[in-house]
Amino acid sequence: MRGTLIALVLAATATACARPPAGTLRFKPQEPVWKVDDAVTLEKAPKERVYNRTLYHLDGFVVRRVTRAMDLPDKGRAQDVNSIDEVPDSTWFTNRIGVRDVTIDEIRKGPNEHPSPFDNLPVTITGAKEGGTAIGFVVEDARRAKYLLKFDVKGVPEMETAAHVIGHRILWAAGYNVPEDHVGYLTKDQIEVDPEAKLKDMFGKKTPLTWDRVNRALDMVEKTPDGKIRVLLSRFVPGKPIGPYAREGTRGDDPNDRIAHEKRRSVRGQVPLFSWLAHTDLQEDNTLDAFVPASAEKGEKRGHVVHYLIDFGKALGVMNNSNNWKTVGYTYRIDLAASLATFLTLGTWDRPWDNIEQPPYKGVAVFESDHFDPSRWKPNSIYWPFEDADKFDGFWGAKIAMRFTPELLAAVIDEAKLTDPGARRYLLETLIKRQRILGRYWFGKVTPLDRFAVTLETTGAVTLCFDDLEQLHGFTEERLAYRVDVFDYAGKRLAAKPALYMATSRGRACYANLPLGAARDGYTIVKLAAMRGGSTRPAVDVHLSRIAGGKLAVIGLRRH
Ligand SMILES: Nc1ncnc2c1ncn2[C@@H]1O[C@H](COP(=O)(O)OP(=O)(O)O)[C@@H](O)[C@H]1O
Ligand SMILES: [Mg+2]
Repeated sequence: MRGTLIALVLAATATACARPPAGTLRFKPQEPVWKVDDAVTLEKAPKERVYNRTLYHLDGFVVRRVTRAMDLPDKGRAQDVNSIDEVPDSTWFTNRIGVRDVTIDEIRKGPNEHPSPFDNLPVTITGAKEGGTAIGFVVEDARRAKYLLKFDVKGVPEMETAAHVIGHRILWAAGYNVPEDHVGYLTKDQIEVDPEAKLKDMFGKKTPLTWDRVNRALDMVEKTPDGKIRVLLSRFVPGKPIGPYAREGTRGDDPNDRIAHEKRRSVRGQVPLFSWLAHTDLQEDNTLDAFVPASAEKGEKRGHVVHYLIDFGKALGVMNNSNNWKTVGYTYRIDLAASLATFLTLGTWDRPWDNIEQPPYKGVAVFESDHFDPSRWKPNSIYWPFEDADKFDGFWGAKIAMRFTPELLAAVIDEAKLTDPGARRYLLETLIKRQRILGRYWFGKVTPLDRFAVTLETTGAVTLCFDDLEQLHGFTEERLAYRVDVFDYAGKRLAAKPALYMATSRGRACYANLPLGAARDGYTIVKLAAMRGGSTRPAVDVHLSRIAGGKLAVIGLRRH
């Protein structure tokens, strides 16, 4: 009896609160915002954030993991998106390949605006690299531009420097801020040491960095048989580095930093891109904030913060090789769930990484596509924005990843200057295979429609066109069918019942003779749900209305 009562009450509340089919969300009648101004001039630089590796991992793997489990669940959708669920340009992200065609020349060059340091030799060592773990130096080229100098690990030629360049060019084209990074060869006589150069030990004590010490370090890095040293030069980012950005929350003393980083699509949406590149080395110190002065005047204190991704040398599986770990990309470095699964199955669990082999090409790490599973990809350590990422973030990142054509990828690989033609071929094939695996996976979770455009004919007929990304990329051979439901502003259905729309065109489909709402400048909500593989996908709601000037426009998107 009591149970029935509760059931009745529950049923009543469910009806009372049932979401109207057109939802309650409405958008302002205006074009989507494509740029936000989060570069407002601050009076002074925020404090430098110091990265302590041990405390960081302790917090991620233990403390915060526990306290987060006790927090109220508040994953929520990403907040740095515009009305059509895209990320506007900001100090975090600049739309590039996602919204336009990037040319081969552009992607070859990436962000590298200044003359190459390899055209301005020698390099002069002014100090040793701080942060990170590998050998490295701070250098200046002949024009006095400052760089971080990094090497390939002895016995593993080309691998780390090539991965760095490939990750660098791809993430730049995707839209991220990255430093100007170059790969090339130096001989020992093209490296000089500044007499003032100092080495800081772990207690902060400085001792002279002599040629002798540099020479000993150079003996520990990889060299070609004729004694050349392959190096990566990462130009210091403009402005003053103020440490990495936090994996959770904001930088309290930067008023421009208003959205918690774990709520940023631009950060959460890195999941498909990083999984594609097997870029597992994601910890705060591979991000960097720089305070860019407001003017070139001497003593200028004012400026704003720009957010960078740095250090891609462990991408493309190099993390596995450097550490001799097979599980990278499948488990966290400390992964109780995976250990427990192995233990409980007494080791009989056929773990996905057990059969992975390193391909036999010079400069290629444990990087392959046969065992790539985007649903279970993990970075090497806990990164909250990735824990909180949802299928909408995944769809956004996958859309960007899918925009890289084989020609662009080949150009990127070319920039990495790998000497083994087999390595170049293999990397291209593998990147394409992995790209298609992740595209298929993330597109499959939503109604994967994109680039909506509405036109109003002189006859008054309205047509809504869109790309179907699954079809555009050849992920489905099915005849394209959609369930179409149309509503006005008040949520009243404009057709007697939902229509079945079968697209006849390929790639881009156009739904004609769309009814428009009578009120509120023709406000209309078109609910489109792809029907695939015998089921109906969660819909995407397209909101249309007349905007200033009377033009009919897509003013909002809500994906389900
Ligand atoms: N282009 C750059 N501009 C300014 N600082 C940099 C740049 N590249 C690296 N750094 C600084 O040097 C540290 C180590 O560099 P990184 O490339 O991450 O080396 P590692 O491979 O040892 O991790 C970074 O955490 C950052 O503070
Ligand atoms: Mg690093």
